[in-house]
Amino acid sequence: MTDILAGLNPAQQEAVQAIEGPVLVLAGPGSGKTRVLTHRVAYLVREYRLPPWQIMAVTFTNKAAREMKERLYRLLGEEYRKLTIGTFHAICARILRREAEAAGVSPQYVIYDRGDQQSLVRQALRDLNLDDKVYRPRTMLGYISRAKNELLPPAAMPTETYRQEVVRRIYERYQHLLAENNALDFDDLLLKAVQMFRRHDEVRAKYQRRYPFILVDEWQDTNMAQYELVKLLAGERGNLFVVGDEDQSIYGFRGADYRNVARFRRDYPQARVILLERNYRSTQVILDVANAIIARNAHRHPKRLFTAQEGGPPVVIREAYDEREEGDLVVAEIRRLAARGEARLGDCAVVYRTNAQSRPIEDAFVRGGMPYKLVGATRFYERKEIKDVLAYLRLLHNPYDGIGLTRIINVPPRAIGKKTVGDLIRWATGLGVPVYAALQMLAAAEQG
Ligand SMILES: Nc1ncnc2c1ncn2[C@@H]1O[C@H](COP(=O)(O)OP(=O)(O)OP(=O)(O)O)[C@@H](O)[C@H]1O
Ligand SMILES: [Mg+2]
Repeated sequence: MTDILAGLNPAQQEAVQAIEGPVLVLAGPGSGKTRVLTHRVAYLVREYRLPPWQIMAVTFTNKAAREMKERLYRLLGEEYRKLTIGTFHAICARILRREAEAAGVSPQYVIYDRGDQQSLVRQALRDLNLDDKVYRPRTMLGYISRAKNELLPPAAMPTETYRQEVVRRIYERYQHLLAENNALDFDDLLLKAVQMFRRHDEVRAKYQRRYPFILVDEWQDTNMAQYELVKLLAGERGNLFVVGDEDQSIYGFRGADYRNVARFRRDYPQARVILLERNYRSTQVILDVANAIIARNAHRHPKRLFTAQEGGPPVVIREAYDEREEGDLVVAEIRRLAARGEARLGDCAVVYRTNAQSRPIEDAFVRGGMPYKLVGATRFYERKEIKDVLAYLRLLHNPYDGIGLTRIINVPPRAIGKKTVGDLIRWATGLGVPVYAALQMLAAAEQG
């Protein structure tokens, strides 16, 4: 047996070796899904002698993509660089730059993040004379994002109620402003790629030839647009390998659709379905709790998690009077574990559901004088000074980026007040030109 298969159980080996045609691996947490996917890539390259550049491995977060690259580096060495590994968004962004003309986007396009999108939707509301208390920017962005994830352009939006009709106009205006700024938002990256592959047979055929093998991790988190993209790329041949866990879908709020598991089985009835039920991460006690909870989920393929790690400490539920007491309970428990030598501080992790809940827990750690590391708080790219520098770089690349321009027009202070900027934007909007073009007109008028 080869090294690549050696560290795998029989079900995992079967998944790695099922080469041709669609394969669906359904498995619980910690059952080696990512391990199977990476070993399969290594198997295709080493044993099946596939050129690495013919393989595309897709995942969801940058963190997951990084982890996948590390694992493949360990399996394949430097050769891993020839693989296409990345998030859906990163892979689409690259394809769109290369195929800008077919995709109908500027090759210099910039990508707008959450903050930029908020500014843009606010501008759309101003342009349409709508009240942002009634049509809240966040809510509107939510509608727009969901529509894009379902591949619905503004024209396909429902208009049965007045509100729906307004939402559609906001969406339309928002898209217009994006185009004017040479900008795409995250959802556009997918949407534009799908639209391009649908419309341009020759571009689609080119990418189908380029990537005869496609693998997707965390399949349960794909939305409609991502599903469509993968289907278009896999084409008739459908050497499509997806791994996922219906019970773990965490991205419902951004259009993830665990039903894509069912859809896959319907669209690829010939697909091989492989279940991985052995868990390598947790003790049986923990798995029993998980089984009891997820057994209540509807629409799932029944599977039973088991492990060779018998027993283990019991799962304890404690209820606190309020968030302050909850924080203190957590700190006291960690202190108890450390004192008894059952765990080091670095072995303990505290998980909470939303970021807003971190405060009282942090307070308790500070009160108790216990060191801690907060993961994923304010992200690097969301800090003000970083965003300012990025806005300058974006402007150098694409002067029509109006959001970037208004962000730094007075950074550092140049005595250009909010009112002047507002007048400038209104003037440019009235003329129907980007803000940068309006500035150029002003400069020309002064010189001329
Ligand atoms: N056959 C095996 N033998 C030994 N260890 C294994 C085996 N399969 C998986 N593992 C280990 O189990 C752990 C979980 O594996 P992996 O991350 O691939 O699981 P996963 O199903 O992708 O998890 P998640 O649900 O978190 O995505 C890893 O530490 C991995 O090395
Ligand atoms: Mg995984």
